[in-house]
Amino acid sequence: MKLQSHHFERDRMPKPTTLAATLVFAVTFLLLSFSLPSAESAIGVNWGTISFHRLKPSTVVDLLKDNKIQKVKLFDADPDVLGALTGSGIQVMVGIPNDMLATLSSSTAAADLWVRQNVSRYVVKGGVDIRYVAVGNEPFLSSYAGQFQSYVVPTMLNLQQSLAKANLAGYVKLVVPCNADAYESTLPSQGAFRPELTQIMTQLVSFLNSNGAPFIVNIYPFLSLYGNSDFPQDYAFFEGSSHPVTDGANVYYNAFDGNYDTLIAALTKLGYPQMPIVIGEVGWPSDGAIGADLTAARVFNQGLINHVLSNKGTPLRPGAPPMDIYLFSLLDEGAKSVLPGNFERHWGIFSFDGQAKYPLNLGLGNRVLKNARNVEYLPSRWCVANPSRDLSDVANHMKLACTVADCTTLNYGGSCNGIGAKGNISYAFNSYYQLQMQNEKSCDFDGLGMVTFLDPSVGECRFLVGVTDKNASGFRPYNRWIITSILLVWFFIM
Ligand SMILES: *[C@@H]1O[C@H](CO)[C@@H](O)[C@H](O)[C@H]1NC(C)=O
Ligand SMILES: *[C@@H]1O[C@H](CO)[C@@H](O)[C@H](O)[C@H]1NC(C)=O
Ligand SMILES: *[C@@H]1O[C@H](CO)[C@@H](O)[C@H](O)[C@H]1NC(C)=O
Repeated sequence: MKLQSHHFERDRMPKPTTLAATLVFAVTFLLLSFSLPSAESAIGVNWGTISFHRLKPSTVVDLLKDNKIQKVKLFDADPDVLGALTGSGIQVMVGIPNDMLATLSSSTAAADLWVRQNVSRYVVKGGVDIRYVAVGNEPFLSSYAGQFQSYVVPTMLNLQQSLAKANLAGYVKLVVPCNADAYESTLPSQGAFRPELTQIMTQLVSFLNSNGAPFIVNIYPFLSLYGNSDFPQDYAFFEGSSHPVTDGANVYYNAFDGNYDTLIAALTKLGYPQMPIVIGEVGWPSDGAIGADLTAARVFNQGLINHVLSNKGTPLRPGAPPMDIYLFSLLDEGAKSVLPGNFERHWGIFSFDGQAKYPLNLGLGNRVLKNARNVEYLPSRWCVANPSRDLSDVANHMKLACTVADCTTLNYGGSCNGIGAKGNISYAFNSYYQLQMQNEKSCDFDGLGMVTFLDPSVGECRFLVGVTDKNASGFRPYNRWIITSILLVWFFIM
């Protein structure tokens, strides 16, 4: 099948000289590939783009390549992102936002069009290696109160037909990233899907199974810890726990394994004890809340990676860790909603500008993370509170700045929480100024702000300088001018 070409190209072997050598080689290869336990888990990343300062997609793709990351999960099918992934050989999961499910579930034409526009045109030789389509993102989340759940399976049925028409049904697999709140239990072995989801989950899992697709789950020990003051801190990590969970003959020393086995118990109840599992999101934020800091994020992520790469597996699946895990997240996304908490904008293993936050060995060949190259920053200047002005009337300006821009590090538990009242104001002014691409007027604040060329960062508290994903100004209008001229010439020739 044409789509396997990426795969075969990468794995191409040197030409054997004789038929015998070919046979010996082939037999050995087959024996090896069938007798060994399945390959170790692959580490991938989530690439979200809800940021005020987006890196150029090509810069991010270089970042992935430099860090030898071979799998990336997206939340939509942004043409700029997919364009940058073209020819990269990186395996891609594209996503369908929940608000498109109603349409796709009710219209085969809409499903056909979605597949044509967002999958088939990319999945060609030398194109984008799309392997999965995520149908919705956590569509069964309890807080959605069921508003998306009935669309999921009908959407999958429509899309499967569309993929079949495009000859892609065997290659591109439909999956549904589920939040771990889809199942519940106090003990892993008692795991079961939420009662109101039993019927949908039965259909979903049977669909996945018949297409050889994995169950995708997002597991967040951080949120368990954040939301529950009784949760033992060390149970969230992988260093052993003074509060292990005993479940019959099995003992759990970390929340990740306990959660994973709860899912396996739930799948077993539906009759699919062997269903492959992929972790769609897992990670730890580095700022914006107590317990969210650089050390905790590094210790969790490194512990997780070492744990899954050890191939130990869990009590219910010894020796069989998840197929793939996608870290959440590649980059910080400073424009995300803070409804879940101020930490929500700080999940990246890299900051928004592609700089590694801490040393992390992804187990992919590099010992530490490599920073993004050729990042195009705005000039090195910042907006701060004017020290010669009376700042007693600043409250409204600050409120506006922080409503529009990101000030989450200022809050309790954040890296900028201790910088004082004036520091707070400067931080807010600067966030807003950078968001406005350093537009001069955006640092005015009725004369209370001023631009400085001295970096106001203090200790761990970093005052950012924005990045630009735009090409040098003047380039685009010039392009447009060329296109206009060509059209005009064409018009006159006709
Ligand atoms: C393709 O995906 C993009 C990005 O998610 C979306 O905006 C667009 O509507 C999709 N195309 C169709 C035909 O649905
Ligand atoms: C700075 O702002 C944060 C967040 O609003 C607040 O918690 C902190 O108390 C402020 N610091 C001072 C000195 O006002
Ligand atoms: C502008 O974009 C082109 C094509 O995308 C790229 O080759 C070039 O390096 C970019 N220029 C700058 C200054 O980034």
